[in-house]
Amino acid sequence: MREENPVRYDADRGSWDVFRYDDVKRILDDDATFSVNPRLANDFVEPDNPGEGLIFDTMLFQDPPRHDELRGVVDDQFRPRTLREREPHFRELAHDLLDTAVAEGGDEMEVVSDLAYPFPVTVIAELLGVPADERDRFKEWSDTLVAAASDDDASEAFLERQQQAQMEMAQYFVEMIADRRENPRDDLLSRIVTAELSDGSRLSREEALGMCILLLVAGNITTTNLIANAVRCFADAGGDLFDRLRGDERGLTTALEEVLRYRSPVQAMTRIAAEDVELRGETIEEGDRIIVWLGSANRDGRQFDAADEFRPDRSPTQQLGFGHGTHYCLGAPLARLEAEIALTGLLDRTEEIRVADDDLRPTRSSFVYGVESLPIR
Ligand code: HEM
Repeated sequence: MREENPVRYDADRGSWDVFRYDDVKRILDDDATFSVNPRLANDFVEPDNPGEGLIFDTMLFQDPPRHDELRGVVDDQFRPRTLREREPHFRELAHDLLDTAVAEGGDEMEVVSDLAYPFPVTVIAELLGVPADERDRFKEWSDTLVAAASDDDASEAFLERQQQAQMEMAQYFVEMIADRRENPRDDLLSRIVTAELSDGSRLSREEALGMCILLLVAGNITTTNLIANAVRCFADAGGDLFDRLRGDERGLTTALEEVLRYRSPVQAMTRIAAEDVELRGETIEEGDRIIVWLGSANRDGRQFDAADEFRPDRSPTQQLGFGHGTHYCLGAPLARLEAEIALTGLLDRTEEIRVADDDLRPTRSSFVYGVESLPIR
């Protein structure tokens, strides 16, 4: 596709696909032409129930200037310097999970359920200020919402489950938000309900709820997949990679960037043409949906030498796994830190890691890349 049809219309999905690195970057650099606002799409249908559309009121689906106002409410909390203060606590969380896994499983471990899922969800729950012991509910909600975004299973029953998940999340956060309005604390939820925007106003109720849902969902399955994909890449690479990375924080950071490129946890994102535009000789019309394939851009041989090889010391990679431009992932520093902590913990506890199951099941959605479970020994 990338070679022969780098920009093509997919009649079944009713959207354009863009596969090459340069084209993907160009689109992500130009918010005015390639909007994130789903309401600009020709086929957009306003949900009957306003609760279902909450996610559209978030930074992810808003163009500047509203985007910048919304992102500004929380962005300092995700900067490396702020995260560094919490780093020792994050390390403790991961080490507790690993100790439990080793105590219960001995030489065997299931990376996803023992570490890669519970770790990021506990971290974001703590940052938000919601009880982490409800993480099974969070997982169900996030998995349903992320899978639905891929359109892979558009059956009515599935769409109903998705609506149900969004309603339940909204209901859950309505109560938490009401509590923080009365009793603000030092957490993201309180920040979201009390923040003043540049004109002195507050976030609307929908924006506050949408922001909570976005933060809870955006960093879960994505970081889970980064951690599990890293374990797979390192195990597949074999040789002395584990020995080389153990104790070498910089080397591990570089290798994780390569995982983001080679096995990108987020494979694709959507944009809407805000006006008619030409791309590689094709005319994309105003209101058309465009799927921007990050996973393909990250394997583009025009940008990366031996793009289909995993090279853990490739640097700098300029990979697009966290997106690019205005909507560049807010949680990138957190995700990098979590992956570094999780992998350090694993490397410190194991001589060598072998994937114990040849028959790995991919995650349900084609927009996210990872496996449902990853047994190792
Ligand atoms: C945006 C990937 C972890 C929060 C994005 C985007 C990508 C991405 C590709 C751009 C979306 C677009 O342009 O349409 C990832 C990956 C992660 C990860 C691969 C893990 C490995 C996280 C975490 C959080 C987070 C831990 C924090 C809780 C967000 C938010 C946005 C975003 C809020 C929207 C930013 C904006 O619109 O300005 N992420 N993400 N992500 N991510 Fe992440």
